[in-house]
Amino acid sequence: MPNRYQLATSAVDAYEAQKVKSIFAPLAKATLSKVQIADGDRVLDVACGTGIVARSVRERFGPTISICGVDLNDMMIAKARSLTRDLPGHFDWHVADATNIPASSSSFSRAFCQQGLQYFPDDLAALSEMRRVLTDDGTLILTVWAPANEYFLAQSAAMSKYVSVEAGEKALAPFAYPGARRLPELLEQLGFKNVTVDTVSVERVIIDAEHGIREDILGSPLGPMVDKEEPAVMEKIVGDILSACTGYLQNANLVVPQHSTLVMASS
Ligand SMILES: C[S@@+](CC[C@H](N)C(=O)[O-])C[C@H]1O[C@@H](n2cnc3c(N)ncnc32)[C@H](O)[C@@H]1O
Repeated sequence: MPNRYQLATSAVDAYEAQKVKSIFAPLAKATLSKVQIADGDRVLDVACGTGIVARSVRERFGPTISICGVDLNDMMIAKARSLTRDLPGHFDWHVADATNIPASSSSFSRAFCQQGLQYFPDDLAALSEMRRVLTDDGTLILTVWAPANEYFLAQSAAMSKYVSVEAGEKALAPFAYPGARRLPELLEQLGFKNVTVDTVSVERVIIDAEHGIREDILGSPLGPMVDKEEPAVMEKIVGDILSACTGYLQNANLVVPQHSTLVMASS
């Protein structure tokens, strides 16, 4: 399956330093505040990236919970492995497609997929695979972004203006998952029960916005597209985003609310 969120090696470090800190770690924390995990649970993190959900589970629920993470990008998995090497407890990391998880049926009691579904070409096959590896009384926990906030709308407009229409569209890809509204129906078709839909809201904080916006872009699939341009292009993009988001500036930092749909279901 192709990876529609493919990052180069250097971008994985930027992803961890900027995106995970500013948004994916707060989202994992907010999601976990709504989920029960107990001793004996076996947790799967699908499309784990650098493993922030897995690491957050470990931090919140302790080293007795067994945790496995899978991602298609070997660089993401290498980073997840290096970040957890010295943590207590055991982490199991695999380079694997979400539609072909290297685990026997009924291996996990909790399966998370944080902001991964929108990148799978075959989301139904991936959800069905998650159902296969969950135990009969397991829980599926999915998050997909709600529509883009002002920061991403401004990022998309600047990308279209200074790079290409394609880059502008790519900036909005994380928010363009067409299946969010039909997820409950899809899950029920796959045999999931007790489907609930909730909203989780976090603040995207971009520290030292002038520098941080640049890092945020470089840590995303847009990075190589902007890198190919003259350095002045990045300055113009950052300038346009800052002008559009002045209402969200707090001192030198940008603080923009971002909402996510949280869907949970039992297997
Ligand atoms: C926006 S990132 C989210 C990563 C992580 N869940 C987090 O919260 O930081 C999307 C991830 O999906 C992964 N991905 C994309 N397509 C995939 C597939 N078919 N199977 C497994 N992982 C995939 C990418 O490599 C990337 O790490």
